[in-house]
Amino acid sequence: MNWVGRALMILLLTVAGLPAAAVMAQDKGDRETLRQEVVRRRAALMDKLGPNALCVIFSGEVKNYERDVDYLYRQDSNLYYLTGITQPDVTLVLLPGNSSAREILFIPDRDLSKETWFGKNLTREEADQISGISVIHSTAQFDSFLEATLSRRHFGPRRYARSTEFETFFSALDRGEAQTYLILENGPGLRGQANREWKLANRIRENFLGIQVRDVSKWLAGLRLVKSPYEISLLRRATTVTNHALNEAIKAINSGVKEFEIGALIEYVFRKSNTSGYGYPPIVGSGANATVLHYSPRDVAMKNGDLALMDVGAEYKQYSADVTRTVPVNGKFTSAQAEIYSIVLQAADAALTKVRVGSRISDVHERAVDLLKEGLLRVGLITDKDSEQYRLWFPHGVSHWLGMNVHDVGDRDEPFRPGMVLTVEPGIYIREAALDNLRKDPEQHKFLTAIEPALKKYKDIGIRIEDDVVVTDTSYELLSNGSPRTITEIEALMANRGKPSTRP
Ligand code: GLY
Ligand code: MN
Ligand code: MN
Repeated sequence: MNWVGRALMILLLTVAGLPAAAVMAQDKGDRETLRQEVVRRRAALMDKLGPNALCVIFSGEVKNYERDVDYLYRQDSNLYYLTGITQPDVTLVLLPGNSSAREILFIPDRDLSKETWFGKNLTREEADQISGISVIHSTAQFDSFLEATLSRRHFGPRRYARSTEFETFFSALDRGEAQTYLILENGPGLRGQANREWKLANRIRENFLGIQVRDVSKWLAGLRLVKSPYEISLLRRATTVTNHALNEAIKAINSGVKEFEIGALIEYVFRKSNTSGYGYPPIVGSGANATVLHYSPRDVAMKNGDLALMDVGAEYKQYSADVTRTVPVNGKFTSAQAEIYSIVLQAADAALTKVRVGSRISDVHERAVDLLKEGLLRVGLITDKDSEQYRLWFPHGVSHWLGMNVHDVGDRDEPFRPGMVLTVEPGIYIREAALDNLRKDPEQHKFLTAIEPALKKYKDIGIRIEDDVVVTDTSYELLSNGSPRTITEIEALMANRGKPSTRP
């Protein structure tokens, strides 16, 4: 090969080979980071559980859609948080008092007939590689394992019988100090429909007298509340993709475009950007539909002069964004829409300044509510700033925790610490039906008459501005900063509709 040929070959290898190698190295690095994270998380939980505990965490259940069709599977967030495993029929057992088998995983055996339809399950080696758990048994053995362990007997494999493994737990059983921890946060279930955890709790209480059954969800929620730099990097990616999808949607919105088209476009951008899809179904509502908080997009054409509200979040490696933007369908806010939008934006900006170490969700909420009340009074939609009237037009909270679940776990009263992630999402929704209860009450007549002109002017306006922020040492980082928030920014982006944009 002459030098031109060699140069060409090197160039080709560089262009084709290196990125693939780099991607593989990055995947490997990601897997290693996840494994280190889940090992660390289990250690933190076991510290809290103590040596007398046995903790059981189940994977999420497969939910049937109809007959032979199931809903898309999503792993239970707690099981994922502790193992990194995304497949069903997996159970994690923690026994902090053990020496080597402190963490035991139960995964399904190979099932050739299921493989035909659903593909392969993880092998034990693969499950070990992902989770860092080397003691792995078959899911089919879980019941006999638990029965044996709670009965003070060594389960199956002979190596346990020969070792002192389980002795700490067994001696706690002897002393009546053994505890079984399960996720019991959801209560025993409605109409006797106890979930697996509650069924197991009842079984243990009935059959193993003297073993305490406790709820582990508060400890897990406490751990999940403060995100690691790795978790924040996943949320950063989820919000970046979400903002990109919102920008694409904003440019595609026009009169005649249907709500569910925009919902589908947003989902497409999520998938195209290598996320696993959405963390919750997109909310895309236009006109009066924008005033319905958790509206599902329908076969409704957007109309000139209306607003379109999009509340969407991509899910990346199990972490969800939650961002809302509200834009005018024709690209220009009317003066009435702009008035309400400015109130919501001021409330959002003021609330953001409260996000700093030591303050609480209630501080963020109250700051936003003060501004919303002032604005609503100014435009005539309430008559008394010191009353609860504002709740007609703003019936939800300003913030919630964000993470693996869009409404993530954690005590809402917890003071902010670096690494906590929350939404800031004030809104105003002029939904006339919100007054229906008041109309039945003759005493409210005066109020209804007073707000009538404003109601006529602002009826069907629904606006929410929602951002995702992480608490930092000094203040906060705005994760959702890639899509327009101000009237000028939104109108400028919409003036450029039709132009293609670059990917994040
Ligand atoms: N997307 C639901 C919420 O904003 O809380
Ligand atoms: Mn939202
Ligand atoms: Mn939200």
